[in-house]
Amino acid sequence: MADTLIDARSLYKSFGQTQAVTGIDLQVAAGEIYGLVGPDGAGKTTLMRLLCGALTPDSGDAWIGGYSIRQQNDRAREQIGYLAQRSSLYEELTVEENVRFFAEVRGLRPAQWFPRSQELLQFVGLEPFRQRRAGQLSGGMKQKLGLALALIHKPRILLLDEPTTGVDPVTRQDFWRLILPLLRHSPLAVLASTPYMDEALRCTRIGFLRAGQLIREGLPAALRQPLHGRILDLVGNPAALITAIARADPGVETVDRFGSHFHVRVAPGEADAVCRRLVESIRSAGGRVDSLVPVEPQLEDVFLELATP
Ligand SMILES: Nc1ncnc2c1ncn2[C@@H]1O[C@H](COP(=O)(O)OP(=O)(O)O)[C@@H](O)[C@H]1O
Ligand SMILES: [Mg+2]
Repeated sequence: MADTLIDARSLYKSFGQTQAVTGIDLQVAAGEIYGLVGPDGAGKTTLMRLLCGALTPDSGDAWIGGYSIRQQNDRAREQIGYLAQRSSLYEELTVEENVRFFAEVRGLRPAQWFPRSQELLQFVGLEPFRQRRAGQLSGGMKQKLGLALALIHKPRILLLDEPTTGVDPVTRQDFWRLILPLLRHSPLAVLASTPYMDEALRCTRIGFLRAGQLIREGLPAALRQPLHGRILDLVGNPAALITAIARADPGVETVDRFGSHFHVRVAPGEADAVCRRLVESIRSAGGRVDSLVPVEPQLEDVFLELATP
């Protein structure tokens, strides 16, 4: 791709015995929002820190906007705006002072950063809170300030490490509403990690990370394709009985509970037979089946399939 802004080749990074990133190849082009999904400890943060030049890979290299993180670390870093998983705000400084500090670190002069800060604080909705200490902001506001800081030097590449984890659902929506227009105005490449599937679905491409490896990547719809017709949604009770009977069925691969619903994943071609058997077995064991229907696979289903070694 001509406009590949993140180009990681065979990246490895270990911490002692822990192999955090083991052979990752990843390309993200301008105009893409790449969603990195994976459980805790999968290596998401390590990968981001390698890409932004905060960690040196044991082997492999990544080109950020064309600059090697090994050979041209400073130039590579200049291309990137990074919102770390752990807030790097100065809590005792005000919103405005934080902007000023980050702008100066990035080498911006007041004549440059002042108008830019006004524009950005307006963009993230924090203009009225310029004089508030960062420590006094809500979790969602801190993340929005973090986003403004990451954008201060107009980077072409934006790395967002779980930007909305621990933030309430409404604010999560707000946050994503800020990201999408960014791509319309300028050809950014965005790499965002998230544990939330609904957020992954907003991405143009998704990669699943497990144990330091990118085990699958693709368009959201394509990732769901192999599970088409193989996810049954069951509502009934008691839960323990349903789980036990479904797990014992030879056509069933997995049973997962989402609140009052069970998602039963069946082997290819087994859906009808499994439906018949489950209804019969559960009822004759004294349980209830209120509904049992095939559903479109959700990304959760894909993720569960991949996350089970
Ligand atoms: N600085 C570090 N020192 C030692 N181990 C680390 C360090 N950073 C990460 N790890 C380990 O590397 C693995 C990947 O961690 P991380 O990249 O934080 O995953 P994620 O962000 O997906 O939760 C984990 O096993 C973690 O404990
Ligand atoms: Mg992390």
